[in-house]
This record gives sequence, C-alpha cells and structure tokens, in this order.
Amino acid sequence: MSSDKIIVTGGCGYLGSHTAVALINAGFNVVVIDDLRNSRADVLDGIARITGTRPEFVHCDCTDAATMAHAFDTHRDAVGVIHFAALKAVGESVAQPVLYYRNNLNALINVIDMMARYNIPNIVFSSSATVYGEPDILPVTEETPLQPATSPYGQTKVIGENIIRDFVRANENMHAVLLRYFNPIGAHPSAEIGELPNGVPNNLLPYLTQVAAGIRDHLNVFGDDYPTADGFCVRDYIDVNDLAAAHVAAVQYMIKTKKPIDVFNLGTGRGVSVMELINAFGRATGINIKYEIAPRRAGDVPEIWSNADRANKILGWRAETPLDETLANAWRWQTRVGKIIK
Ligand code: UD1
Repeated sequence: MSSDKIIVTGGCGYLGSHTAVALINAGFNVVVIDDLRNSRADVLDGIARITGTRPEFVHCDCTDAATMAHAFDTHRDAVGVIHFAALKAVGESVAQPVLYYRNNLNALINVIDMMARYNIPNIVFSSSATVYGEPDILPVTEETPLQPATSPYGQTKVIGENIIRDFVRANENMHAVLLRYFNPIGAHPSAEIGELPNGVPNNLLPYLTQVAAGIRDHLNVFGDDYPTADGFCVRDYIDVNDLAAAHVAAVQYMIKTKKPIDVFNLGTGRGVSVMELINAFGRATGINIKYEIAPRRAGDVPEIWSNADRANKILGWRAETPLDETLANAWRWQTRVGKIIK
C-alpha cells in the first residue's frame, strides 16, 4: 500500500471518478481537480460511499493558470498527475475546433508547467485510439503508425501526446505514460458512480441504456453495410473499472521504473460489433433494445480493436471483466440514475 498523493484532473468525470476509486483502494491519497463543467460534485459522495474516503476537491478549470498554480502549490508533495480533464465530444469539436484546441491544449500545458515548477515527476495522459485513425492492419499495436485524426478532438490527443514527448525530453526528471483508450463502457458494480452524459448521448452504450430505460424511443444503428463480418462497426469495448485499474498500474510502473515515457493501448484485444453489443445487452439484462438502421455516421471507422499485449506484459494488467457483467453494471447504473438527464 502506498500513501503517495496523486492529483486527478477531471476526477469527477466518468473515467476520472472510477480511477479515483481504484487509486484510493490501492492506498493512494487522491486530490481531485475539476471545474464540474461536464460533471457533478455529488460524484465525490459516490466515491466516498464506495471507498470510505472522500478525496480532497479543488474546484478549478485547468485552463486557469493562476488557480492551477495555487492548487499545485498546495499539493506540491504529490508524486504524480493523471490528466483526464478535457472536452471529448467529437461532433462538437468539428463545430467548435478552437474551443477544443484552446481548452484541451491549454489545460495540458498548465498541468505540465505546474509539474515542472513544483517538481511533480509523473504524468498519465488520457489519449485515445482515435490517434490510429483508420488503421490498415488489425489489431493495432502501439507501433501501428498514427494517422491524421478525423476530428479536432482527435487532433488534441495527437498534439497532446507530442507536447508530452517534448516535455519529458527536455526535463530529465519528468516521466510520462500515454494511455490510448479504446471504448470504455460500464459503471462501478455498486452503481454509486457511472457515466452521466450531457443531453443526448453521443456514445453507443449510454444511448442504448437510455433506450432500455424508456428515455429514448429507439437506438439508431449507424450503418449496416460496413465491410466487416456482420456489416456493423466493430469496436473494442473495455470495462471502465478495468480501465481504472490500468491507471493504478501505470502510476506504480512510472514510480518504480522512472522511465521517461511509455505508451500503452488499453483495450480487451477483442472486437465486438454494434449488433453483437445489442444482443449481449439483451442476454445480460433480459431487455431487447428497439433499434433502427440509420445512415453511417460521418467520421466512424469501420473497425478497430487493440492488441493489448504490451500493457498485459509490462504493466501486468489485463482487462478481465466479462462483457455481460459490464453491461449489467451499466444497466444497474442507468436504473439508479433513472430519468435524470442533465
Ligand atoms: C468516439 C470517438 C473516440 C472517443 C470516444 C469517446 C472517433 C472516431 N471516435 O469513439 O475518439 O474517444 O468516442 O468519446 O473520434 N453507434 C451507433 N448508434 C449510436 C451511437 C454509436 O450505432 O447512437 C455506433 C457507432 O457508429 C460506432 C459505435 O457505435 O460504431 C461506437 O460509437 P461511440 O460510442 O460513439 O464510440 P466511437 O465513435 O468508437
């Protein structure tokens, strides 16, 4: 067990809150920084009910350099930062690219500035499989060439990775792990925390659970004529609790090895089509989802899934939760939050 302090930006968000739980359960002292733009402060109550510990909370927009300096000064004894705080809606990023560049890049720059100023030596960066674009060969490994991102959101991940590479190159006592997430889904098994999308969900599973709950009439399945085994898009859906555990492993790995930089895919290594996911949800919950085939969604790649060997071998981490359990957790969370839509 470790009582090392970790700053988690975006710690009230979907991935951040599950990671805060995993860190606290592993003995870390967690400080959450969040501006609550896309999240709620009562997420901290959920974290406290699960772990018995309420993380210290700093209400701060990461692009606000002065408030960030105050927060990092107060927590200069931290050993690392996990930087989740970012905007992530692909369509919105196409409509408002400058908002995405300004927010996501200024926030990251402030975080690494503060790390250098207060000598906080470790960062985990939330990257995305979107950096692989439409890959020629599947599954993708970390060596798969990156392709031009299909959205400004994706560009902020590619640029963010490069900023961090240059930062650790120029600061020999700084270390980074870049984590490329595939498709995180599910919720904590306690149903105390989960995903709380703003308005109409963009992502598949929150939309699907809202259909199951009667909040939406039916699911639009974007495209049934892709060049895939069943004609539907294929993704690598990873349980959010497994994803959270990988962050703990990444922090421990950085503290131990002091390696300047490393990059890991976080996925299951298995591709699942939209239709397979709908059917798996039916098996896991007994609920048949009403759906309609809709046109393809602009920017969707036909199929992508990970080779997760590197994280398996080097971090000693593996995505373990069976898909039906993940889907049952997502449904339990949806029934708990009921018809609350922000
Ligand atoms: C997207 C982004 C990814 C980002 C992630 C989290 C791209 C190409 N993808 O992943 O970078 O990290 O969101 O925000 O930039 N689908 C439906 N009906 C729906 C919703 C989705 O059929 O109502 C299908 C999509 O066509 C896709 C699959 O479900 O095949 C998953 O979609 P989604 O959950 O939005 O994730 P991605 O697009 O893979």
